Formats: sequence, C-alpha cells, structure tokens
Amino acid sequence: MTGLGLGFDSPLQPLLERLKDYGQEDAFALWDELSPEERELLIRDIEALDLPRVDRIIRCSLRSQELPKAAIEPVPDASISTFEDRTPEERGRWWKMGLKAISEGKLAVLLLSGGQGTRLGSSDPKGCFNIGLPSGKSLFQLQAERILCVQRLAAQSISEGTTAFVPIHWYIMTSPFTDDATRKFFESHKYFGLEADQVTFFQQGTIPCVSKDGRFIMETAYRVAKAPDGNGGVYSALKSSRLLEDMAMRGVRYLDCYGVDNALVRVADPSFLGYFIDKGVAAAAKVVRKAYPQEKVGVFVQRGKGGPLSVLEYSEMDPSLACAINQETGRLRFCWSNVCLHMFTLDFLNQVANGLEKDSIYHLAEKKIPSIHGYTMGLKLEQFIFDAFPYAPSTALFEALREEEFAPVKNASGSSYDTPESARLLLLRLHTRWMVAAGGFLTHSVPLYNTGVEISPLVSYAGENLEAICRGRTFHAPCEISF
Ligand code: UTP
Repeated sequence: MTGLGLGFDSPLQPLLERLKDYGQEDAFALWDELSPEERELLIRDIEALDLPRVDRIIRCSLRSQELPKAAIEPVPDASISTFEDRTPEERGRWWKMGLKAISEGKLAVLLLSGGQGTRLGSSDPKGCFNIGLPSGKSLFQLQAERILCVQRLAAQSISEGTTAFVPIHWYIMTSPFTDDATRKFFESHKYFGLEADQVTFFQQGTIPCVSKDGRFIMETAYRVAKAPDGNGGVYSALKSSRLLEDMAMRGVRYLDCYGVDNALVRVADPSFLGYFIDKGVAAAAKVVRKAYPQEKVGVFVQRGKGGPLSVLEYSEMDPSLACAINQETGRLRFCWSNVCLHMFTLDFLNQVANGLEKDSIYHLAEKKIPSIHGYTMGLKLEQFIFDAFPYAPSTALFEALREEEFAPVKNASGSSYDTPESARLLLLRLHTRWMVAAGGFLTHSVPLYNTGVEISPLVSYAGENLEAICRGRTFHAPCEISF
C-alpha cells in the first residue's frame, strides 16, 4: 500500500509516483478524507500542471537566490534620451516617424491586466476602476479613447493617395482572476468605440505557490494554491497562444506594452515609437526621474561595466547607493525609475521567451497565501516584464515627465500615495494646464488644489488641437471638455 489507501494497481499510482519524483507527494496527503468528486478535482488539478517545467522553475528560482550578482553601474548617458536634451527637431521627427509607422499598421499595443490589484482592494479588474474623474470614465475607457485618438492622428497624417489606414490592434493580457470580468466589461461598454475585432484577449499562466523549501501549498485539500506568473508571464503566454504569429500576420513590427494602472499612460505614443525606430533597438523603456532617494520604485541599472540594462527592485537596492549623488550633475546616480512602459520589436519577442524559459529564474515574493490552514506565509513565483531587458541585443531609455505621463493607481483611497485621488488630481492638473495654454480660463467652486478640468482623449492626446475648443472660453471646474 502507498499509505494513501491506494493499491499499487490503482490508476492513480503513476501520478503519485510522478509527484514523488518532484518531492510533491504531500499534495495527496488528505486523499483518504476526500469525497469522490473532490478526488476527481485533485487529479485534474495535478494533471493540468506541467510538472517538469514547474519543478525546474522552482529549483532554478530558489537556487538563483544564492548566486552572486554583477555589481551595478548607473545607466550610461548614451543609453537615454532625456527630456532636456531632446531638440525640437528630434521631437517633431520622432512624432512623425511614429505616426507613419502606426498608419502602416506596424504598431500593436499590449495591456498587462492580469494582476489581482490586492492593494487597491477592488473586486473588479483594476482597469474597470473609476478614479472619480468628472466623466466617470474607467481606466480601460481612458486607454481605449487614447488609442482612438492616436488612430485618428495617424490617419490624418497619411498623405493623399497612399495606403489605407490600418487600425491599432490591442492585445489584452488577463489572468484567471480578471479574464471573465474584463471581457464582460468591454462587451457591455461596446469596446468603448473600438471595433470588437481590433481587441484580442488572452490569458497569462499561473504557477503553484510554494513553501520556502519548494513544496506546493494546498489551497484546499483538493487544489494546489496558484498565483498568476507575474506580468513577465506575457512572454510565454504570447508564445503559447500563438499571438506572435497573429501579430506577424497583421504586419505588426513593434509592440507597446504597458500596465493598466497609470491614469496618464500615453498608449501607442508616436514620439516613443519614433525614437525607438530611430535608435533601431530591440527593447526600450520610458522612464521617469526618481522623485526622492527612498521612493519605492525599481530603477534601471547597468549590470557590470558595459553589461546589459536591467531593473533593480527598490528592495534589492543598497540604501547608500539609493542616495548616491553624481557629483557632476548633482542628481541621483540611480535615478531612472521603471514605470512599466515598454517597446519591443516583434523579432526580439520571438526570441526572448526561449531565453527566459531556458533560465527559468522567477522572482520570489513572500506573501500570505490562502491555504487549508488559513492564510500562511509562502512564496509566489513571478516573472516581470522587464526581465526581458538583459536578453535584448540592444536597448534604450526614453525619459518621460512624471507630471505628464505617470499617475499610478496602486493603493486604496485613504492611503498616503498612489491612490485613485492622487491619480485623478494629476490628470486634472495636467489637463487644466493644457486648457490654459490653449487660451481657456478656469473658474471653480471647490479649492483649486482639489479640482480642474478633464479633457476627453477623443479631443486631444497630448495637449494638441485644443485652441479651437478652448480659446477665449471659460470652464467651470470640475468638468469634462469633450466634443
Ligand atoms: P502590480 O505589480 O502593481 O500588481 O502590477 P497588481 O496585481 O496590479 O497589484 P497588487 O500588487 O496586487 O496590489 C503592475 C502591472 O502588471 C500587471 C498588473 O495588472 C498591472 O498592470 N500584472 C501584474 C499582470 O498583468 N500580471 C501579473 O501576474 C501581475
């Protein structure tokens, strides 16, 4: 007997033996207490796991903790286009180059929307969240309307008699936690004005949560606790769902990837795309300057002299290095914050999944995991979207201004930073500046520091084309300016 009430001739025996090969036989520890239906569920749950792969990931990730890491160096100046160094000529040229590539259908956008949004505490996917703007628009709607606006700008940039305009394709990565609700939200809002066939949803994978010695944590007696494999799960998900082929078939050459929770995200930014094409690199990121040394953001660093660019998490940064000042500029030495805005070539995406899969190194996050014994401390295994950078043959960074492009929605109302309120105010302040620059006036019945105007992305993407609507007009805040 096996000790589980299973005879050697039981059809379960091979499965149990396989689990033993990987030291995971405890998953069957409560077998004798399960009902026939629960036993069936447990078998299906285990059979659905790619055990050799999961085992390799757990072993490589735990082992990687002990490996020495190359010393870090600041990002070389040549790798970054800073806001102040950009000439008006470059700005204009990149904007036009980007619009041209978009009009030719060479850009697709990819939204990372598989996170559980635990800090925000909403039961819906984060993209459904309404941050309290005058329009009441959700994060998904703001992004969809920015795509519509860039499409229109790209279409207008096509000179008469050239090829027909191709819409921007939007790939949306969900997870088992967000998939159903996300699809329903898009359907019930009629894709926010986009064509339904311009949007493709796909799911990222999940991976078992484990104890510190690498054993599966059981969520119930018949189900292994699992969590999404991180936003870097996008690489294997794109490959396994054959979406890289789908992109190639559509003529896509570049992919703009971003996180769902930035209310100011410039989706499909023509300037960033133009810069990316001009530099001819395989991977790029938009970065913002770190606000203060202890800010909890990952920063781009170079791994060893001349080594690849990679992101160092704030938790891994030596506090003295976080405060280190560049004596020449007087600025922080490690100041380029990663804000989850990336551009990749399709060619590179075709290669990177293999490299990441071969190394199988995931980040380990110690978290409370729901288990049969109540919440227990365990490890979630995740890859991050920026893990691809060390595999890229060439990389570049592009500085974005925080006040123009970064309004994170991470924490619930009442927290001290990155809340729906702080994101709403950042957006209202930026749009109010646009309106005033376009010749408009503002009145308000609530204090100015707490209000402003919102400009529909259908009207303006980055502050352009507002004069006709704003010049000489007075707007009473809070309000939305739309067509
Ligand atoms: P965060 O790391 O902020 O995680 O995600 P989160 O799940 O949204 O929030 P918390 O940590 O649970 O509070 C950054 C971006 O990566 C996506 C998120 O949806 C967000 O756009 N993400 C995160 C995924 O797509 N998949 C994941 O497994 C994790």
